[in-house]
Formats: sequence, structure tokens, C-alpha cells
Amino acid sequence: MCGIVGYIGTQTATEILLSGLEKLEYRGYDSAGIATIWEGDVNCVRAKGKLHNLRSKLEQVETHAQIGIGHTRWATHGKPEEYNAHPHMDAAMRVAVVVNGIIENYSELREELKQKGYQFRSDTDVEVIPHLIADFFKHSPASVPFSPSLFLEAVRDTVKKLRGAFAIALISADYPDELIVVRQQAPIVIGFGQGEFFCASDTPAIISYTRAVLPLDNGEIARLTPLGVEVYNFAGERLKKQPRLLNLNPMMVEKQGFKHFMLKEIYEQPGVVRACLDAYFNADWNVSDSTNSPVKLGLSADIYSDLEQIQIVACGTSWHAAIVGKYLLEQLAGIPTQVHYASEFRYAPTPLTPNTLTIGVTQSGETADTLAALAMEKERRQGKEPKYQARLLGITNRPESTLGQMIFHIINTLAGIEIGVAATKTFVAQLMAFYALALDLAYLRQSISPTRLQEIINGLRQIPGEIEATLEKQEHYIEQLAHEFAETKDFIFLGRGINYPIALEGALKLKEISYIHAEGYPAGEMKHGPIALLDAKVPVVAIATPGSVYEKVISNAQEAKARDSRLIGVTPVNDGEAAEIFNDLIPVSKVDELLSPILTVIPLQLLAYHIAARRGLDVDQPRNLAKSVTVE
Ligand code: G6P
Repeated sequence: MCGIVGYIGTQTATEILLSGLEKLEYRGYDSAGIATIWEGDVNCVRAKGKLHNLRSKLEQVETHAQIGIGHTRWATHGKPEEYNAHPHMDAAMRVAVVVNGIIENYSELREELKQKGYQFRSDTDVEVIPHLIADFFKHSPASVPFSPSLFLEAVRDTVKKLRGAFAIALISADYPDELIVVRQQAPIVIGFGQGEFFCASDTPAIISYTRAVLPLDNGEIARLTPLGVEVYNFAGERLKKQPRLLNLNPMMVEKQGFKHFMLKEIYEQPGVVRACLDAYFNADWNVSDSTNSPVKLGLSADIYSDLEQIQIVACGTSWHAAIVGKYLLEQLAGIPTQVHYASEFRYAPTPLTPNTLTIGVTQSGETADTLAALAMEKERRQGKEPKYQARLLGITNRPESTLGQMIFHIINTLAGIEIGVAATKTFVAQLMAFYALALDLAYLRQSISPTRLQEIINGLRQIPGEIEATLEKQEHYIEQLAHEFAETKDFIFLGRGINYPIALEGALKLKEISYIHAEGYPAGEMKHGPIALLDAKVPVVAIATPGSVYEKVISNAQEAKARDSRLIGVTPVNDGEAAEIFNDLIPVSKVDELLSPILTVIPLQLLAYHIAARRGLDVDQPRNLAKSVTVE
């Protein structure tokens, strides 16, 4: 995934583009570049690596350009080198282009262009675009009837030749008052200021300048001039569109005194859980209330009626939330549930089952694999008899995303924008969505008693306070502990039942931001392989919460201890066997076993954070990763 930004107006473009790119760096940071139009030429500056490299280069360039485009890259086609960095230009250096996404048919287009004599300077798929535009100009008439601009026509002609999922922004030295923006299955919004207009892959990039935005839809081209914005479809017809006001405060995208966004986002979790509780649960409901539902997700009967099966597709951390979800949906609502990696499901879907709900979980709503898996499911069920028709539900933190546009039923996870690449608060919010969904289904199907339902909801209401207590009491201890592991090479995380996915998530967090090898395992499986890895140099983190598997996890932890591993327990139990076997004990509050994942994940997030911070790593922008991956 990459980030793109564009500006046209009366202010100096460079600083606005750089500040926009800063907010988009979470989308990729292999290289960055900007192109502006100044004194009749395109001025293009690019640098390998993070944005500060580009910033230093730009210090030597003086321009007061009032139009420009910028890009921050997560490499797909071509190494993360400067020659592959965006913007890309035509041979005459008159047109500059930035793209987020992929041009699938680029090799055939590249061949055709080469045959015509165009020379390529990069390995990217994107470079075909400026050459196609140059080629259009070479053969075009001086104007096209009924079109406001030949540049717009050149872009329209070009995008019709492209296959793939992309958002594009373009400028041309020959049309210095036009910024053209295209959307085809990759997000892009237009921002409306006073006498100035913006475009960006994501709203945080422009929120400091305007809250009035217009997200483009697929197949749309916008022409931004100092006088306004016109939107067309690919057929060239002008469309009527209305901007809307964003409910986002610029402070949400600042660190607010925290050293990293990730730590700030960990601390925001009590508030996120409160927001979900308010939005998902009916505060007035009690056991004797037989008319109202305790849950207010607003999902209609076409999602719920005669439901026999649930299948969930997701990637990364969202996949871990889905496994907790499976546990809840099966144990509370009694519905058989399967969880698939979206990237696997796409190519090996399960046989069609009747009355099946398919849930896509994606915090960004933009992960290509998840979107494609859902699209495939929708398509293969089309035209089938009613019980086989697709029922789709999305769980996302960005309801305005591509997922939000593609699926009617959405649970908004209400975590607020997450900037740190490693997901924390959005994970906890996804768990809340699954609690609400499972309890709603359990209530409708009467699979648990009203008293048990009330007990769980009451327990959920205690969670924000318990997270606060964990943060307040344990962070300092975890930080000290983390210092002892800064040089550790391997870690094992163990959990069972509903805490097995938390072991996976703890290991993923550590891998992502500290680059330490870590494996999450169901505690009972350790003896079937990973136990061979254990010795005094391999610490084991065991999640041991009272309930159905507590004793089992303790026995599995004993097996690790017998192999000299240092044992770190995440547990509310601090006496008896737990106190004896754990070398280090991170207490969490004692809650219903079903609710424990929302608490046990907190120390694991802090442990990963402090180990990475101690190692001096870039916690918010770990190497090779992007916040969401919009390519296959
Ligand atoms: C990327 C991120 C992960 C994230 C995954 C799925 O790989 O680095 O942190 O969990 O994408 O993202 P999604 O937006 O679909 O939840």
C-alpha cells in the first residue's frame, strides 16, 4: 500500500504535501517523492527511505509552487530504490504521476510503448502511465469537443487502457492549473478548502486543512483547478457530487505527548471499549426485559434468519480477532464457524453451504485479499437458490472504506484512526464487535439464559476499568522486564481456548515491531514440536486464566520450565502453583474466562512495545510492513 497526496491552491505546495505524506507514512515508507510545477517546469524530487530523507533533499530546492503531488511508497514492483520512487514522469518531463495500487496489465503496455520507442527508467508498473499520456498528446488534436481540458482527456484515455486496482494523481507542466485524480478500487478523497483543493489516500493527510471531503467512487476522475472540482465518470460524463463533513479532529492524528503512536493507541483502549459498549449494547436492558434486545447492532433479519454456518475471512491481526470471534460464536450462539486467511480462501474456497453468513474483518477496509475473498464469495453465490445466496457482513474501523462501499451490513469498530502500523486498539475494538454479534445471536436463538447474558454484559462493562488498572499498575513493571529481553532471539507464546489467538497476537506484535522471532502456539500442542526449541535462552510467555483450561496451561508451562525456559505468566492467579513456576508474573484482573482476551492482550502489547522501544527501533513504522496491504 502507498500513500498519495495532492494540492492546488494559493499556498506553497511543498510543505502541505510533506505534512500530508507524514500522516500517510503508515501506508509505506520505502521511498517518498513530490512533484510540483514551478516556472513552467515540473520539479520532481525523490528519495529512498523514509520521509526525512526527502525533507533534507528538499531543503536545497526553493520553489513557491502552488500545485503538486506527493507519494510515500510500499514497494511492490521494483526494489525500494530512488529510481523506482514516485512520482514517475514521461521522457520530456512534462507529466508527473503518483499511484497507489497495481497496474495488472503493465507488462503488455510496457512492451507496446517500448515498440513505439518509449524508454523506461524504472522497474515499476506505474511508469507506463506518464508515457501513455505523452503518447496521447503526441497523437491528439489540439482540443476535444465538449471536454474542458485536453489533460483530462489524456488521463481518461489512459485509464481506460489500465487494468487493476489503483488511485492516481497527475499534474502536467503544460496544464499548470489542473490536478487530475482517478479512482479505480483504491481509496482517494478530495478535500475542499477556501480557494484550495486537496486529494489524499486517507483523510488524516488533509484534516489539518479541511474537514469537507468527497471520497471518489470507482470509475471516477476528478479535475481540480484553483476554481473548483469537477467529477466525471470514465465515459466522460459530468457527475453531481456533494462533499461531506468529516467527524475527525486533527488532534486524533497527533501523538499527544506519547513517545509513539502505538503507546498512545494502547492507552486509548479503555475509551475504545467504552465507545463500543455505548454503541453496541442497550444500557436499559435487564434480565426481565422481554421486549428489547440487549444488543443494538441494527443488523436486519436477512443476516440472521435460519443461520446455519458462519465463515470469516481476514488477514493478520484481524484474523486473530476472528479466531476469538469463532470461539464466541460457537460457544455462545452455538453456530459452527470457520475462520479463513482471506488469501487462502480466495483460491481454495470451501464448498458452498446453505444459510451461511460470511464476515470480512479488516480494520482498514482496504486489504486486497480480504476484499477479493468477499467479492469472490458474493459472485459465486449469485443466481443460486435463496438459501445459498450471499449474506455478507463487514467488521471495520473505516466504514467509509472500499469494504464499506462494497457491503451493506457493517459493524463499525469505533476505535478512531490508528496510525501505528501494529494494530492494538482496533484489535480490541474488533473483539468488542464479536462480543456484541455473538451475544445478539445468542439472545435471538436463546442459546444462553438471560441471566448468563446479563452476567457477560455486566462483565464487559467492567473491562474499561480493568484495562486502565492493568496499564496503570503493570506498565512500569513490563518496561523493566522488557529491558531484560532486548537481546533475546526467540520467544514462545502459549495460550489455550479463547486465549490461544491472544498467544498468536502476542507473538505477531513482537515479530512486527521488534524483529524478534516469536511463535504463538496452543499450549497443548507445544509438546508436538516447538518444545524442541526450548532451552534457557528461549523465554515462554504463558497466558493462564482461570476457567476450562487453567490447569492444562499450567502443566504445559511446567513442561517448558523443565526445559530451562524462563517462564513469564500472564495470569490473575498469584499464589499456589502459578506463583511457584512463573519466573515473572504479570498480573491481570480476574474476569469471566470468555472476557479474558481483552485483558490478557494488553500486557503482550506493552511487552512488544517496550522490547522494540528498548532496541531503539521505529515502533510505529516497522521495516517492510504497511498498515494495510492493498495488493495481493
Ligand atoms: C497488514 C498490517 C497488519 C494487519 C493486516 C490486516 O499486514 O501490517 O497489522 O493486521 O494488514 O489489515 P486489515 O486492515 O485488513 O485489518
